[in-house]
Amino acid sequence: MKSFSSALSPSRNVGFLVILACIFAITGGQVRAQATDPDISQLVKDMTLAEKVGQMTQLTMQPISSVRGWPGTPFELDQEKLKEAIVERHIGSLLNVYDMAMTTDQWVDLITQVQSMAINDTRLGIPIIYGIDAVHGNNYHQEATLFPQGIGMAATWNEELVAEGARITALETRAVGLTWNFAPVLDVARQPLWSRFFESYGEDVLLATRLGSANILAQQELGESGYPNVAATAKHFVGYSMPLSGKDRTPAWIPERMLREYFLPPFEKAVDDGILTLMVNSAEVNGEPVHASHWLLTEILKDEMGFEGIIVTDWEDIKKLVDSHRVAGTFKEAVRQVVEAGIDMAMVPYDYTFTDALIELVEEGTIPESRIDESVTRILAVKQKVGLFADAMPHAEVLPIESAGAASLEAARESMTLLKNREGILPLQGTESVLLAGPAADAITYLHGSWSYTWQGMEEGAYPEGTKTFEDEVTSRMNGVRVVDWNAHQDPDKVRAFAYGADVVVLALGEVPSVEKPGDIESLDLPEDQIALVRTVAETGAKVVVVLFQNRPRVIREIEPYADAILLGYQPGPYGPQAAVDVLSGEVNPNGHLPFTYPRFSGSLVPYDYKWSERADILFGQNAINPQYEFGHGLSYTSFEYSDLSVQAGEPGPVTVSVTVTNTGELPGKDVVQLFVRDEVASITPSNKRLRGFDKVDLAPGESAVVTFVLSRSDLGFIGKENTLIFESGSFVFMVDDLSQAADVR
Ligand code: BGC
Repeated sequence: MKSFSSALSPSRNVGFLVILACIFAITGGQVRAQATDPDISQLVKDMTLAEKVGQMTQLTMQPISSVRGWPGTPFELDQEKLKEAIVERHIGSLLNVYDMAMTTDQWVDLITQVQSMAINDTRLGIPIIYGIDAVHGNNYHQEATLFPQGIGMAATWNEELVAEGARITALETRAVGLTWNFAPVLDVARQPLWSRFFESYGEDVLLATRLGSANILAQQELGESGYPNVAATAKHFVGYSMPLSGKDRTPAWIPERMLREYFLPPFEKAVDDGILTLMVNSAEVNGEPVHASHWLLTEILKDEMGFEGIIVTDWEDIKKLVDSHRVAGTFKEAVRQVVEAGIDMAMVPYDYTFTDALIELVEEGTIPESRIDESVTRILAVKQKVGLFADAMPHAEVLPIESAGAASLEAARESMTLLKNREGILPLQGTESVLLAGPAADAITYLHGSWSYTWQGMEEGAYPEGTKTFEDEVTSRMNGVRVVDWNAHQDPDKVRAFAYGADVVVLALGEVPSVEKPGDIESLDLPEDQIALVRTVAETGAKVVVVLFQNRPRVIREIEPYADAILLGYQPGPYGPQAAVDVLSGEVNPNGHLPFTYPRFSGSLVPYDYKWSERADILFGQNAINPQYEFGHGLSYTSFEYSDLSVQAGEPGPVTVSVTVTNTGELPGKDVVQLFVRDEVASITPSNKRLRGFDKVDLAPGESAVVTFVLSRSDLGFIGKENTLIFESGSFVFMVDDLSQAADVR
């Protein structure tokens, strides 16, 4: 990796004082100040009100462009509008693409123009911080490496893979001059209907917290320049993932206790890890839009958690306080509300309405200038921490990152989750005659998901040439494969005719990508035509292997009995076809595990850590907790046995739990050791169990490993009646696989 050396002389930046030879300690997430770094408090003192409010303004590409980017029409900047934004309006930040991913050259050109103007043509020479949704790789850069979406990364239960993906994403993002990544999504996904389920790390708070932390630390790791490659964003603070109706950006009702128990911990950890920026949930929680919540943004996030970075609004969310939430009668009043609540930067993103309104509010004395100074100090500090004052220019010469493709393939392989394997039909022998069908067979979009070259990811023409479909991979690696075109599915006779004579029918099913509002659905059920296809094929007596590529768990109850094997591929990205065929053919032993409970019915969406009262069977004998597949489930081609579970609960030391896991099969394989703990009786109704530890092991046939978990009292605690984390002594049950041991913990 080459370092990012300074391309521009700091002496041009007349507006700030230089700290000479001031080197601070380097710790996780912290960065050194170099000779090029400004004295931020002095810089803020030197700024006019318009310059300060400009720093708090973030615009997207539309207002500064003349041509939208699309296949066949490359994006073009409008120089006059750019000048207005940067020189006259002093804006501090830009984001996004104008509709489509750009090439390396286009990015380098764009960023060079933007930063040159900001540094050379403005009074203070403050560089722009440019934000992008590099959600699963730098997905708005045509030559970047895409990875599985978050839910697939979570299925690996592998912090190293998550970190490697984040590290590569950050490097590739910085290489084209982008210094701010609006990721990761730290929303704990406890509502499977939610259209952004695929971006999350699943339904469990511990898994989401640990994987989120791995992502953030890797993104913000210091590069050779001595600065992190990008500022990461913890989003969306908080409660976005739990809309009552399941629809995007609709109200959530989350009492403080639940907020602290399930939704705040990943953000708390992110703040402890030194996350530089945070984005706000567009929706409301408990009747208050989060953007207008002084309690959430200032009291909890800034004061209690000690967050020192930038709080940015989400897309056009100030306007939504007027148009959608109706807590403000005018836009100006909405600006007052969000600034008083604690936001530092507005993703406006189309105009200067925020800028004008905020200047007016300060000039008339409604908002004190000291409040503006606080936000501007935060913004400039993040710019300094991410090394923008030292070097704001792209360094595409570091591309390509050699190991990137292999890392993405590895992640895709480890995400593959084998849900069912009747009579060990998988791996295939290689001698079967195979028929391939289903809507995801020849659609690259299904495998990538949204945030892929375009926002929704649905524009096939925007994908790089040569991107493989599942069909490409199946037909090139399996013998005598025949394919039924998806359009022919409407004709069951045709499908039947094809299926007779096939030993195995591989059906690539799932869900068309979509995200945010366009991703709202009425039901989790798999679309009817796909259910009909499975039935038609099964009638012929062929073995049926279902491979699912989808945004969220679509209900497969009706087709599950017909499927001999089910492989869940999530949205695995460009190496997904290879990874899936590796598993079908046995070249890779699957080891993904569900990071969520796979529901059997749309109307029974109960997470694994349900409360006892949710089990109607206790009173009425009905089977209320009956998911299709349990949280943590995932099959292997080898077998694992667990033994010697031991729990040491000495006082006052930590609780130590150890267990032996042995690969008792004939193939090498990986397993995820999952430690669940049940608090038998507690003053707040306890969950039936909670995940309290996990570890992934890689074992040769016959090999054993002892896995040890060390738990503090707070690891076994919960949010009590006073809405604080407490631990109550008593009886706990420690469970790994089918072993369990009770212990008194005091
Ligand atoms: C999304 C954010 C995203 C932002 C910028 C919003 O619509 O909710 O997650 O970071 O757009 O693209």
